[in-house]
Amino acid sequence: MQQIGIAITGSGSAVPATFLDNQGLTELVETSDEWITTRTGIRQRHLAKAGDSLAELAVIASHQALTMAGITPQDIDLILLATSTPDDLFGSACQIQAKLGANRAVAFDLTAACSGFVFGLVTAAQFIRTGVYHNVLLVGADILSRWVDWQDRRTCVLFGDAAGAVVLQANPRDRLLGFELKSDGTQNNCLNLAYKANSTELLSGVCVGQGSFLPITMNGKEVYRFAVQKVPEVIDKALFRANLCVEQVDWLLLHQANQRILDAVAQRLKIPEDKVISNLAYYGNTSAASIPLALDEAVRQGKIKSNNIIAASGFGAGLTWGAAIFQWGR
Ligand code: ACO
Repeated sequence: MQQIGIAITGSGSAVPATFLDNQGLTELVETSDEWITTRTGIRQRHLAKAGDSLAELAVIASHQALTMAGITPQDIDLILLATSTPDDLFGSACQIQAKLGANRAVAFDLTAACSGFVFGLVTAAQFIRTGVYHNVLLVGADILSRWVDWQDRRTCVLFGDAAGAVVLQANPRDRLLGFELKSDGTQNNCLNLAYKANSTELLSGVCVGQGSFLPITMNGKEVYRFAVQKVPEVIDKALFRANLCVEQVDWLLLHQANQRILDAVAQRLKIPEDKVISNLAYYGNTSAASIPLALDEAVRQGKIKSNNIIAASGFGAGLTWGAAIFQWGR
């Protein structure tokens, strides 16, 4: 039986219109443009308004990706939404399906924080490789501003809101060359958006826990250390699976968390600066959206070209991390 491969044939992205620069943040917390820029590389971030929905942002990105791929919403078999911040805790993928009019598609959410896009890419590829589905829309979208403590200078300077999307299609040549995914729940307490329950007594002896989610907490130093150590390892492993060496990588496309992490990972892998894709200065850390947002920009700028080999890696809460080595285009 002939092996079915996958190709990534379209990309799109969207950010909210409102943005906040570092100077603006100095009015909220004790910080400075100089501190944020030198420690993170971030200069501004886009923020969703109260009335903005994640599904709407995702739909804008999705339309662009479908147009680039040359398919219509009716062609989609599966919609995967990688997010930690759905509009509805039951999931938002079905809202995207409805807004697109993708009436043949099955849709569901997938949560792996900042690794969500890479985990989603690999998940989508399994459905295609097994011959179950031909056309998959993968969206990475997050509105972390909903869950940031805007009084906490250790976290509020880092995050932004965005959506990115790609279309994956069955293809005679398999463009997903190798991958590796990892989880370590023992380090879960490094990065949380945790639920806090208050006990509510319904009847004597019958209590339920009702509460709400607490703002994001992060041990920045630990997450930094984890990323700089684990990301090069997982990329090496994925390259090994792809039977490629690091010199063959055209673009290093990391989750856009911090310029210092991007630089340190590139340095450890001996990948030159001009092969590192970075747009975090303008968007901050947009969680599951950051890789498809940076990918889409680089494709539309003509940087990433057909057949280019991309080493993508996501890392974040869970803790989760993973890498996917793929070639752009059919
Ligand atoms: N402005 C000014 N000073 C600050 C700020 C700020 N915004 N934030 C912290 N500081 C202070 C601290 O209080 C500390 O002061 P102290 O020495 O008096 O206590 C000092 O600056 C140094 O703080 P550190 O935490 O040591 O700063 P560091 O150089 O580690 O940078 C940072 C912090 C940017 C958060 C870094 O640790 C980092 O990027 N970590 C990784 C975060 C990340 O990538 N997360 C990705 C996953 S996200 C996801 O999955 C949702």
